[in-house]
Formats: sequence, C-alpha cells, structure tokens
Amino acid sequence: MDLKDTIFIRKSTRAFLGEELSRDKLAEIEDFIPNIHRLDESIKTQAILTDKSDVINLMPWTAPHYACLFSETGWRGLIESGFRYQQLDLYLQSIGLGSCWLGIAKLKRKLDPTLDYNLALAFGKAKGMPHRAKGRFQRKTLSEISDRVDGRLEAARVAPSATNRQSWYFEHDGEVIHLFGQKGGYYRPWGTSRWLWIDMGIALCHLYLTHQQFSYQLLDEPPVKSGYVYAGTIRL
Ligand SMILES: Cc1cc2nc3c(=O)[nH]c(=O)nc-3n(C[C@H](O)[C@H](O)[C@H](O)COP(=O)(O)O)c2cc1C
Repeated sequence: MDLKDTIFIRKSTRAFLGEELSRDKLAEIEDFIPNIHRLDESIKTQAILTDKSDVINLMPWTAPHYACLFSETGWRGLIESGFRYQQLDLYLQSIGLGSCWLGIAKLKRKLDPTLDYNLALAFGKAKGMPHRAKGRFQRKTLSEISDRVDGRLEAARVAPSATNRQSWYFEHDGEVIHLFGQKGGYYRPWGTSRWLWIDMGIALCHLYLTHQQFSYQLLDEPPVKSGYVYAGTIRL
C-alpha cells in the first residue's frame, strides 16, 4: 500500500507485541528516512531509531521501538518535523506495523546540541489490527475545519493530532488557502504548544501526499485570525 492510501486507514496503535523487529526490517525503515520529502530543505531535523531501553515513556504501555525526533528551535522546525515524520508514521503502517505519535516520551541520551527534542513515534508489531476500517474516523467535519466545505481538504481532516484536538482551520483566499492553528488547548491554555505546530505539519503532509500540485509558502504579510496562529499558505 502507498502512503497516500494509508492516510485513510491509519490509526494509533497502543498495544504492541513484545518481540523486536528483525535487523533487516529495521534497516528497511532506516533506509526510508533519507527519502522523506521536505517542506523546506533548509530546515534541519533528525530521527533516531532506538529501542525501549533508551526511552522514557510515561504512558501505561510500551513499544519495542521508537523513532526519537528532533528539529531546529522554533515553530518552523516543529512544522517541518510533523511534515517529515508523518511520512514515517504512514510508512510504518503501510508495511503492516503499528505506530503512535508520543508527545510525552523522551530519549534518555542527549544528542546533537543544536537541535531540540520534539517527541517520539512508537512502533512495532501491533497486538491487533494496525489499521482501521476505511472511513471510521472520529474527527470534526469539513465545515468545522474550513470556511468552505472543500473535499480537497479530506486528507487533512482525518490527520492525527495531539489529544485528537484537530486545531487546524483553513480559509480560502482566491487561488490559495491559508492554514491556521487554534491557540489554547489542554497543554497550553493561553498560547501555542509545540504539539500544535507538529499537528500543522502532519496536516500539511497529508495534503502534500494527496495533491500533485501542492505548494506551500509563508507570506511576508500573513493574514491574521483572532485566537489562531498562522501556519502557512497552500495551493492544491
Ligand atoms: C503531536 C502528537 C502527540 C501525541 N501524543 C500522544 C501521547 O503522548 N500518547 C498517546 O497515547 N497518543 C498520542 N498521540 C496520538 C493521538 O492521541 C491520536 O493521533 C489522536 O487521538 C487521533 O487518533 P488516531 O491516531 O488513532 O487517528 C499524539 C498525536 C500527535 C499528533
């Protein structure tokens, strides 16, 4: 299955078999990472594959493997990390593995001092089905995430987000669509948390994979929307 089709059946797996993946399978996953498409080539990010002995996971479950994710300081680094590593989430599920973004897991070691630790992707063989039945998503409707019901946004609508908050909001403006992230939420009631920016990158990744003409830019004079932050302007 390709990454585009995986968007519509992916889900978070939180119950894993204890067994580790073979060296060959891990090498295959490692090989996928350099081929990940980038939103902005100039931004540095890093993904380190490791096992459970290397990670503090505060969830009441564990996974045999983790991809620990890093990016440059600031919101653009976080958007980039979400955009790039959502491709890894989809890849893992496309090869039949279970995966889950993990905001509160932490790598025990300190690595590249120029990069900030973002979060982890837990992965391994799922205890049950690693996918959902097509279309079975608990998500907002297209009219709740956009100023216009626009079927082209469906892949963003079903994207995963921290606490399933789905903070994205799309506003059409002629040929382009502005993306905003809603401030607030459980982690940062008055502002923006780093998860908000990761979520924006994930939604952009789903739109990139489902639209051949996708392009993204940050406007010099960004539109302003009360209660939201601007996260970029796209063409589909
Ligand atoms: C940035 C981010 C952080 C997340 N952190 C956690 C986490 O710490 N623990 C967890 O169980 N799930 C976490 N999730 C998974 C979300 O809860 C999940 O994606 C969302 O509820 C939608 O469900 P689905 O992935 O099955 O479609 C995270 C997701 C994202 C995108």
